[in-house]
Amino acid sequence: MASATARAHPNIAFIKYWGNQDSSLRIPVNSSLSMNLDGLFTETTVEWNPQFVSDVVEINHQPASDLASRRVIQHLNQIRQRYSVTDFAQVRSSNNFPMGAGIASSASSFAALTLAATKAAGLDLPERELSSIARLGSGSASRSIPSGFVEWHAGYDHESSYAESFALSDHWNLVDVVAVVSQSHKTTGSTEGHQSAETSDLQSARVAGAEDRLKACKSAILDRDFTTFAEVVERDSNLMHAVMMTSRPPLFYWLPTSLVIMQKVREWRDSGLHVCYTLDAGPNVHCLCLLPDSAQVAAALKSIDGVSEVRIAAAGAGAHLIS
Ligand code: PMV
Repeated sequence: MASATARAHPNIAFIKYWGNQDSSLRIPVNSSLSMNLDGLFTETTVEWNPQFVSDVVEINHQPASDLASRRVIQHLNQIRQRYSVTDFAQVRSSNNFPMGAGIASSASSFAALTLAATKAAGLDLPERELSSIARLGSGSASRSIPSGFVEWHAGYDHESSYAESFALSDHWNLVDVVAVVSQSHKTTGSTEGHQSAETSDLQSARVAGAEDRLKACKSAILDRDFTTFAEVVERDSNLMHAVMMTSRPPLFYWLPTSLVIMQKVREWRDSGLHVCYTLDAGPNVHCLCLLPDSAQVAAALKSIDGVSEVRIAAAGAGAHLIS
């Protein structure tokens, strides 16, 4: 019997991942950039035991749904096959943020699962390899393995597609103030969404410019240049949503309140606040701002009709073991 417990944070992408070159290996069509979100985390314990007769998965102290179990077991199968592990496992995972709060938990879940499962199997994998393995569970999970500000290199095969840190979490006092607009689960998940990306006429244009946007965004972060950062982050998010809306079938993730917030954020920036927006595959608006402006942004967001909750997270650590 061997067990290990790991903790990982979700991440917010500044340059988005949308669409795969290889969907079974989750190798993306473009490289992406993100920041881990401090304060929010998934903690996962994995125990491999030769006496277990099947895998058992528990999420938030309840037996996992069939769908969630299947996805976790698929990931355990990848680890079993790649590292010749023969036992079944018990997986116990919990989030310190509600699953319905509109903050995607798949990145933190698969990052924590990867670290706990490999460690419990007696493996001591380098960060780069952990990131590639986490990617097989959920693409964005590759970015929750390294610390702070992270780049996921798209690559061309399993080994070359991995994420690494390019600045530590204390490099810049950037804060994500998340305006929760809807607590309901999204109708089309990202796994399905990635597959429809290429049905949009706009995807090739989005992908063609992704490397330039990534370079501009990375330099802006390294130079702590908020003005350039804000422009490129909003443009990249808008491009991804333009692709989503023009896919077949179309995917509209924004709600009316999302648009109200996006317009407000631009007004606030024009009036001198350091704030910009980005949205993932859902209606919640991630308002990225500098720490001194975050309290004012949070208060203003709370006063908007349709905002049910506001969560604040600074740049966070990478996946790590809990003793
Ligand atoms: O890792 P996935 O399959 O949940 O995809 C994440 C997709 C976005 O959140 C919309 C963008 C991103 O880069 O995180």
